[in-house]
Amino acid sequence: METVVSGIRPTGNLHLGNYFGAVKSFIQMQNEYNCFFFIADWHSLTTRPKPENIINSACTILAEYLACGIDPEKATIYIQSDVKEILELYLFLNMNAYLGELERTTTFKEKARSQPDNVNAGLLTYPTLMAADILIHKAAKVPVGKDQEQNMEMARKFARRFNSMYDVEFFPEPASFSLAAKAVKIPGLDGSGKMGKSEGNCIYLHDDATTIKKKVMKAVTDSGPTQPNSEKPEVIQNLFTFLDIVSTKEAYDYYNEKWNDCSIRYGDLKKQLAEDITNFNAPIREKIREYSSNTGLLDKIALMGAEKARESAQKTIKEVREIIGFR
Ligand code: TYM
Repeated sequence: METVVSGIRPTGNLHLGNYFGAVKSFIQMQNEYNCFFFIADWHSLTTRPKPENIINSACTILAEYLACGIDPEKATIYIQSDVKEILELYLFLNMNAYLGELERTTTFKEKARSQPDNVNAGLLTYPTLMAADILIHKAAKVPVGKDQEQNMEMARKFARRFNSMYDVEFFPEPASFSLAAKAVKIPGLDGSGKMGKSEGNCIYLHDDATTIKKKVMKAVTDSGPTQPNSEKPEVIQNLFTFLDIVSTKEAYDYYNEKWNDCSIRYGDLKKQLAEDITNFNAPIREKIREYSSNTGLLDKIALMGAEKARESAQKTIKEVREIIGFR
């Protein structure tokens, strides 16, 4: 059975971008693959979180994974920092990761720009840690959103480099996976390209009806189409992307027709969208509340996941040491 690995940084709650870009695939893949889904707490250190927030944020994501329907009996769910073998692989991979290629990654350049007083080595070597996360279980598939494409290319490059350097066929090249035909990018409703925590434009899975309505009604629009069947500008296309993921086909077609014959009323569309997002969230929101309060269960699941993940990681790292020459 093929192995699947993916993770999410615990820097807040899960939002619709996380869900439709990654978690939705996790839920489906856990039935068909050997899955490892983790909480990337080491990755969150690049932005200096407060100590008290680290464990709380990990618990939040764990509860939200479960609320979404990730089943600890089917998939291994764990916290990254419980599996120290990842760090050893990170070190090995870093020895053959070059400054030039790391500096050229878009995410590094963006972070260096957005936090100029904290351009740390962890940011620079973010792609090697991510590669270590994936290669530690020799994953074949990695469900991620479109924003992770460059990191995935780096992971493949590091896998190939290791194999050719030691003349082995050890690491499979991990492929990005998406349920849709191509990688998913959930937009923000504020006119910015993508929904994201650092963009501050998220609709969270735990948001209630009032919060969702407020966020959706504020979505950026334009003055409306003047020509029938015209192409949709990006901000309008964004609204339709949301209709496509949370509403019925009938609702989508209805507003699409209204767009095409220039009779669309954005207020109506937004009301529909707010209602459909609220309905989508409702059952997940309820389960988030249940799981969050059951800390005993969360501890048990994290412990069980850590054991299973360590077992797999130890097997890989033992072989890696031998290949490199540590016997
Ligand atoms: P992170 O924590 O930023 O996001 C977690 C997952 O959610 C996806 N995602 C989106 N997909 C579509 N549209 C959006 N607006 C959107 N926003 C977020 C991301 O693509 C991602 O799949 N580096 C990773 C975490 C990580 C990881 C790994 C992932 C660390 N190690 C190993 C896979 C394998 C990150 O920062 O994702």
